[in-house]
Amino acid sequence: MSKSETTHAPTPNGAGIFSAPGGPSAFALAATRGAVMSRAAADLEDEVASDGRHLLALEGMTRDELLELIDAAAREREWLAKGEPNRTSLAGITVVLAFIEDSTRTRTSFEIAAQRLGANVVVFSSAASSLNKGESLLDTVRLFEAMGSSLVVVRHPASGAPAWLARQLDRMGVINAGDGMHEHPTQGLLDLLTLHDAWEGRFEGRRLAIVGDISHSRVARSAIAGLTTLGAHVTVCGPGTLLPADVEMLGCEVAPTIEEALAGADAAMALRLQKERMERALLPSFGEYARVWGLSPERIALMAPHAVVLHPGPVNRGVELAHAVADGLRARILAQVANGVAVRCAVLQRCADATRREPLPPSLQDSATAVRATTSAYNEATR
Ligand code: NCD
Repeated sequence: MSKSETTHAPTPNGAGIFSAPGGPSAFALAATRGAVMSRAAADLEDEVASDGRHLLALEGMTRDELLELIDAAAREREWLAKGEPNRTSLAGITVVLAFIEDSTRTRTSFEIAAQRLGANVVVFSSAASSLNKGESLLDTVRLFEAMGSSLVVVRHPASGAPAWLARQLDRMGVINAGDGMHEHPTQGLLDLLTLHDAWEGRFEGRRLAIVGDISHSRVARSAIAGLTTLGAHVTVCGPGTLLPADVEMLGCEVAPTIEEALAGADAAMALRLQKERMERALLPSFGEYARVWGLSPERIALMAPHAVVLHPGPVNRGVELAHAVADGLRARILAQVANGVAVRCAVLQRCADATRREPLPPSLQDSATAVRATTSAYNEATR
């Protein structure tokens, strides 16, 4: 179907446009992309995935593409650390940050990254916009496209919403800042950069243990996709109610206990309990969770001596991580945050470069000449 024939589906002004019919039940959740988003949404994503204007998912990216972005982010990090004045490499580019779901670190780090590269930044959230008056997300983003914006960074509760937007827009690039339970590719890249540092650049044969709410976690999906492509192994563990039934299909192993997952691991990633995405009580209590699945000093001692601890934040202290672990020597939580700005600089630059290569739409090519011609034709005819 060509773009002009596409019917405009009602806008994802809330969760669920791409969820399975009847809505996902947490117990029925499966791991694969086909389980967290509809076939139609997955097809849309495949259609636009290779377009360099967009960054929608780490699944499907090649090893070279991932390493290139990690490399670019490491260069941006060096530049950021020098505290030099803002660059002008994104001068003339307007980046819209459309966050239709809460965010602190992702939104602010995209904002800082875009400003450091000299872009104009527009921050737009559902709370203070016409989305509240019923305007669709697509219509709203098209406004920004008409105003000359080049990139939109989207966070949305519906899995697949950024791919859907990318397919509908004519010129703008779309960067996924977290879509439902699907992916969070810039988080995945910053996790890769953090592990690249901890593992001295070698991913092959290393092993990350991911602990917690795998079912609802877009962070886990992006990390698993990126790490397995780079040759690392991932072991997941968590309460049975928060593990997708077929999680091995993502290319990872499942450990029955946290102790088995951590034994000898080269890193651990604790995930936040995503209360907002749980449809019913899946846990007896947070206290019980902390006792059985929390990262304590005794448990992290089971890992390899060089192993580090990651958490995407926000952290429920005392639940996923003991205070002593969150503040301990192995924690890389603030390094992840710092790496987030560098990764977002690299991604914005890559996507902006690709949008600049797009030809102007025919209606704008030589528009001054066209306006002059129609004006003089009109003047002639009405003289
Ligand atoms: C994550 C998210 O929103 O997906 N946070 C983040 O972006 N740093 C994880 C979470 O909310 O638990």
